[in-house]
Amino acid sequence: MKTIAITSGKGGVGKTCLSTNLSIALSHFGQNVVLFDADLQLANVDVALGIRAEKTLRDVVSGEVSLKDALTPGPGGIRVAVGGSAIGTLMTAGPKRLGQFFDQIASLQDSTDFLIYDTAAGLENRVTTFLKNSEETILVTTPDPTAITDAYATAKVLFKKNPEATIRVVVNMVACAEEGYALFGHLNSVCKRFLDRELEYLGHVRQDPKAAQATRARKPVVLLSPDSAAAEDYVHIARAVWDLSRNVRGRQLSAA
Ligand SMILES: Nc1ncnc2c1ncn2[C@@H]1O[C@H](COP(=O)(O)OP(=O)(O)OP(=O)(O)O)[C@@H](O)[C@H]1O
Ligand SMILES: [Mg+2]
Repeated sequence: MKTIAITSGKGGVGKTCLSTNLSIALSHFGQNVVLFDADLQLANVDVALGIRAEKTLRDVVSGEVSLKDALTPGPGGIRVAVGGSAIGTLMTAGPKRLGQFFDQIASLQDSTDFLIYDTAAGLENRVTTFLKNSEETILVTTPDPTAITDAYATAKVLFKKNPEATIRVVVNMVACAEEGYALFGHLNSVCKRFLDRELEYLGHVRQDPKAAQATRARKPVVLLSPDSAAAEDYVHIARAVWDLSRNVRGRQLSAA
C-alpha cells in the first residue's frame, strides 16, 4: 500500500480536485484506492463526490466501527473514508489514541494499493500528522505568487522534519505545460538555494472551466468531462504516480 498525502501551503489551490480525480484515475488503471478525507475542519470530499456516507471517520474515532467498515463506495470504484469533525479531537487526544488510529489505517494494507490523504492547507499539527504518516507528499500550488510562497514555506517545514522527504509538485490552473514546468523550476531553484534540497516535478493541470463546472455538479471532471484538458492532465498525473509506484521510471515512490 502506497500512502500519499496531498497538501498545499495556501487553501483553495485544487487539492480536493486532485485527490478525487487522481484516486478515480488510479482506480481506472485497476488499482484499489482508498481516498481519506484528512481535512479536519472542512471535511468535504463527500460533497465533492456527491456521495452520502452512512458511517464516517467520526464513528471510527468514537470506536463504533472499524475503519474498514466505515468506508463508503465512491464513484469510479474507489472507497472513501468520509471526514468527520471528531477527527480534530482525536489529533489532540494524545499519542496513544493517535497510534491506535494509525494502526487501523495499517489494517487497510491487504485490500489497498493506494491510500490518498486529502489534507487541509497549512502546517498545523493536525495536517503534519498525516504528512508524517505518509510515504510521499504531493504539494499543490497555482501560479499565484502567494500560493508559490506558501508552497515554499511548506516544503521548508517538511524538509526540516524529514530531510529525506520526497515532495512531488503539481502546478494547477496553468495555461499550458510550459508554464507549469517553469513555475516548478523557479520553486525548485529557491529550495536548492536556501534549503539545499530538491523537489520532484509530478505535473500540471490546466485551468479549465470544465473543472469548475464539475465541482458545481459534484462529479469529478475525469468522469463528467473525460475529454477535457483538466481530465487529460489528471490522468497523466495518475499515470506518473502509478509508474513511479512500479518503479517504471527507475525511481522509487517510497521515500522512507
Ligand atoms: N484546473 C482547474 N481549473 C479550473 N478550476 C479549478 C481547477 N482546479 C480547481 N479548480 C476550482 O478551484 C476551486 C478549489 O478547488 P479545491 O476545492 O480542489 O481546492 P482545495 O485546495 O481542496 O481547497 P481547500 O483548501 O479549501 O480544501 C474549486 O471550485 C475547483 O472547481
Ligand atoms: Mg479541499
